[in-house]
Amino acid sequence: MKIDYHGHSCVQLTSGGNSIVIDPYLTGNPAAAAKPEDIRAQVVLLTHAHSDHIADAADIAKRNNALVVAIYELATYMSWQGCNVLGMNMGGKASVGFADVRMIQAFHSSGIIVQDQKNIIYAGMPAGFLIHWDGLTILHAGDTSLFSDMKMIGERYSIDLAFLPIGDLFTMGPEDAVTAAEWLKAKRVVPIHYNTFPPIRQDADRFVRMLGERGIQGIALKPGESATL
Ligand code: NI
Ligand code: MN
Repeated sequence: MKIDYHGHSCVQLTSGGNSIVIDPYLTGNPAAAAKPEDIRAQVVLLTHAHSDHIADAADIAKRNNALVVAIYELATYMSWQGCNVLGMNMGGKASVGFADVRMIQAFHSSGIIVQDQKNIIYAGMPAGFLIHWDGLTILHAGDTSLFSDMKMIGERYSIDLAFLPIGDLFTMGPEDAVTAAEWLKAKRVVPIHYNTFPPIRQDADRFVRMLGERGIQGIALKPGESATL
């Protein structure tokens, strides 16, 4: 499986001609390494409704005739933008044909802020995803704090790779993300949601060293870089 890091929380998984893109935020992202029109994917996963996660979702989904998978309220909103959607909810598992996607909790918020109307549209709970594909289990934590049920998730699933936010301020920071990696028993961790803007600046090499001291492989990808699993 090929893993492309497009910057912020946007990652793309590709195997056997199939591709899943998660939380596409390229337009307006100062650290983005791809353009929405360059993304080829059959599935778009959205962890929650903040603009730094859904900015290009409708554009990419419609361009590719892709399926948008998100929590029910956000999926409904995306359907109003003209997308094919699959709404789901916490603890549920959905097949996207070539992979199974399971929705897990995240401790965060989720709403669509319509600045010019001073309106916030409720978009359901924030989420993370477990992706079961090619015999691998990959976790994308979305935006979240550390929470103790990560231990339960780590007990129940063998996680080959976890994408964990480390930016602090809006999500857990590096220290809590190391604990998250331990609780999830993740074999490998790719840090996300950092260095996009000054308030979430972090030292990814230090994070990788902290993981290494606990026997966990950290893989810090720069936007535009990829890895193979
Ligand atoms: Ni967020
Ligand atoms: Mn975010």
